[in-house]
Amino acid sequence: MEYQAKELFAKHGVPVTLGTVVEHAEDAAAAAEANGGRVVVKAQVKIGGRGKAGGVKLASDPQDAVAKAEQILGMDIKGHTVHRVLIAPAAEIAEEYYFSFLVDRAHRNYLCIASIEGGVEIEEVARTNPEAVAKISIDPQTGVDDAKAREIVVATRFPAEVAEEAVAVVKSLWQVFVAEDATLVEVNPLVRLGDGHLEALDGKVSLDANADFRHPDHAAFELAENTDPLEAMAKEKDLNYVKLDGQVGIIGNGAGLVMSTLDVVAYAGESHGGVKPANFLDIGGGASAEVMANGLHIILGDEQVKSVFVNVFGGITACDAVANGIVGALQALGDEANKPLVVRLDGNNVEEGHRILVEANHPLVTIVDTMDGAADKAAELANA
Ligand SMILES: Nc1ncnc2c1ncn2[C@@H]1O[C@H](COP(=O)(O)OP(=O)(O)OP(=O)(O)O)[C@@H](O)[C@H]1O
Ligand SMILES: [Mg+2]
Repeated sequence: MEYQAKELFAKHGVPVTLGTVVEHAEDAAAAAEANGGRVVVKAQVKIGGRGKAGGVKLASDPQDAVAKAEQILGMDIKGHTVHRVLIAPAAEIAEEYYFSFLVDRAHRNYLCIASIEGGVEIEEVARTNPEAVAKISIDPQTGVDDAKAREIVVATRFPAEVAEEAVAVVKSLWQVFVAEDATLVEVNPLVRLGDGHLEALDGKVSLDANADFRHPDHAAFELAENTDPLEAMAKEKDLNYVKLDGQVGIIGNGAGLVMSTLDVVAYAGESHGGVKPANFLDIGGGASAEVMANGLHIILGDEQVKSVFVNVFGGITACDAVANGIVGALQALGDEANKPLVVRLDGNNVEEGHRILVEANHPLVTIVDTMDGAADKAAELANA
């Protein structure tokens, strides 16, 4: 969100005014007071086009700030409910620019997109006035040094009065991009203020979750209202779990197999009252009893789930190990395991895997040989 992006900007020396975040309209008065009286009230949602949707409003004084906050809080912007607003000093704007760094996957490097016609949607500028949008590719080996920053400033055609300061801002924004492991750093608008200085009045940063291990401080950006409790529990157990809206719990190994399993279950569900997959869960390579128990525990904790489909292809972890994992997990879960399980195993050591499951003879477990057959059985049980 904008206020979080601005915290990262401040950390790396990008000129910003942090302002104050409030969740209740009555707190807007004190926040406005603290920010100079004349303020902007800005919806904090993870979606663009807030201004156009009425989520950014000027307030002339603290009283007015309360009124504007009342209008904006609770608003729905393209499916995002506004839970908080940022109160920031109203800036005197001379010019609005657009600036961004992003990952250019097609060319396997980084890209800077910038324009002195900012403040509006950059896609619109690119359509109506493409010459006004500068695109500068950045060699990942050298990044943005002083010379590159100057090249960017010249290519963007920043006015001479702000050129020197723009070089510094460009380098600071690159610092945010690299040091925070971002995949996008966008400022729209970057403005020239009445006093001639530059300031980032808005900010959007996408962080690369693959680099989370390097940034324990990024966890604080995760907002409680966006986190599903089951997903949070799965994350704690290092499980790749996504909650979906359905009745058939899914456990598989390998993202590709799990994605296919979702499709097959959705298709089978069409002939069983329209039941759907309840989740994505990839337990990865080592399908040990512990991992299997953790996965089942989360899926059985989903009240919507009526049956579970375990679809495992034995590779490095052979089917007998997986079968032992399932038996061990059911033992560990005891009474908590209370929904029918359809198991389909194939691949390395499948006969031994089947033998283990048959021998265990657990009343909740049904073994089916094919993926389609197992999906159909799981859907049928969910609809029973
Ligand atoms: N602190 C401020 N003082 C004065 N005007 C502001 C301030 N912040 C924003 N504005 C004005 O409001 C416009 C929209 O603000 P902002 O860019 O933050 O939201 P947005 O562009 O609608 O949101 P998004 O970037 O998510 O699409 C800006 O282009 C600027 O003209
Ligand atoms: Mg903006």
